[in-house]
Formats: sequence, structure tokens, C-alpha cells
Amino acid sequence: MAELTLFLREYARTRQNVGAIAPSSARLATALTRYVIPSPGHSRTVLEVGPGTGAVTRYIADSLGRLDTLDLVEANPHFATLLRKTYRHDARMRVLTGLVQEHELGVYDTIVCGLPFANFDARTTAEIFDRLLGALRPGGTLSFFGYVGGATVRRTLAAGPDRTRTLAGQGALRHILRRHAFRTEVVLGNLPPARVHHLAPVDTPAHAERDGSCACRNASS
Ligand SMILES: C[S@@+](CC[C@H](N)C(=O)[O-])C[C@H]1O[C@@H](n2cnc3c(N)ncnc32)[C@H](O)[C@@H]1O
Repeated sequence: MAELTLFLREYARTRQNVGAIAPSSARLATALTRYVIPSPGHSRTVLEVGPGTGAVTRYIADSLGRLDTLDLVEANPHFATLLRKTYRHDARMRVLTGLVQEHELGVYDTIVCGLPFANFDARTTAEIFDRLLGALRPGGTLSFFGYVGGATVRRTLAAGPDRTRTLAGQGALRHILRRHAFRTEVVLGNLPPARVHHLAPVDTPAHAERDGSCACRNASS
């Protein structure tokens, strides 16, 4: 209950960043963590971005093996403090406070992302996906969600410069999905219903194809 109160308070205070009226449901958490697959005998590295009050984190934490690690990157300091307190006795877990764009990331087998991309501009969305997909091991998976109908509602309500920004942000997201999504599932049991996308890295970073100016392919060959 204290978690829900904190979530609602922070939503009222920083709506743009929190981007959800309630923590994810059990069904949404299950879909988001579908590719956090236990592998006994091997250590796995997992990253959760935007864990909020930890609604999805507990599903990941429950599946961690003895040698696995889980990094949590959370922009909201109140949420980060709560998470640090909740998992203070678990040495496998590390809470990093701040924007994911500003942290040095490790290399991960699985990334679960709760960021509200509907509120981000095209540049921020592209930058974050470049970083996250670039932090995945070959064969790794990135899962994130958006709300069903959310894009249409935002497009309809936005006007002027906000509409231009919204359309560009949605275009960037569509581009990333076309390139990287291998599975999408609808979760009706969430408020509001959500669409979960599962992505895999491909050879070229997304920004290279978008602006045609990147030489990193040549540099690495
Ligand atoms: C929609 S809430 C999701 C919370 C939780 N994962 C859940 O499903 O209930 C988005 C979370 O992302 C965090 N956030 C927003 N932008 C961020 C960024 N650039 N880097 C890290 N966290 C961010 C917010 O503070 C918030 O906790």
C-alpha cells in the first residue's frame, strides 16, 4: 500500500517521467519478464530500466540464480531509495539512481525496460534504444511496453509544436520496432491494457540506418 501511495504521489508530481497511473500488474510483469530465463549453472546479467516501486523487479528477483546479477537504473530518487531499502540484503542487486542515458552500462543477457517512451522525443527514444540494444550480448533480449491506444490518444490530444514532437517520437519508436521486434503480445489484465514488445539487436546500430552518417560499421570491420 505504501508503494502504491508513493507511486501515485510521484505520478502527480512528475507525470511526464513516471508515465503510468499505476504500477504494472502481475500479468504485465509476467509478460515483461518472459525472457528472463533461469539457466542453472550459468551466471546471467539482467538490467531493469525504470523499475519504479519494483512491481516488475520482484518477478526478476524471484528468478535470479545464486550467480546472477540484476542492475536497476531508476531516475526518481524516491523510488531508488525504496528499491535500495527493499533489496539491501541482496548482494546480487545494484541500484543506480539517475537517467539511463547518463550511466555507464554493463553487458547484459536480458533487459527489461519500463520507460514511458510515449512521453519522450524522437532523439531521446533513439538514444536510449541505441544504448540498451548496444548493451545486450548476442542472443540477448530487450522487453518493454506501451499502453494500447496510448499513441492514438496522444496524437489526437496534441496540438502545435507538441503534436510535431509527438509524431516524431512515435515515428522513431515505429522504426525501432520494425527493425528489432521479434514478438509483440497484448496484456489485457493491466490498467490500462498494454502491449509488450520483445526486441533483439541486429548488426547495425539503429542510429546508423536512421541518419546514414555513422561510420561505426566500417570502423569495426
Ligand atoms: C511507467 S513507470 C514504470 C514503473 C515500473 N517498471 C512498473 O512497471 O510499475 C516508468 C519509470 O521510469 C522511470 N524513468 C523515466 N525516465 C527514466 C530514464 N531516462 N532513466 C531511468 N528511469 C527513468 C520513472 O521514474 C518511473 O519510475
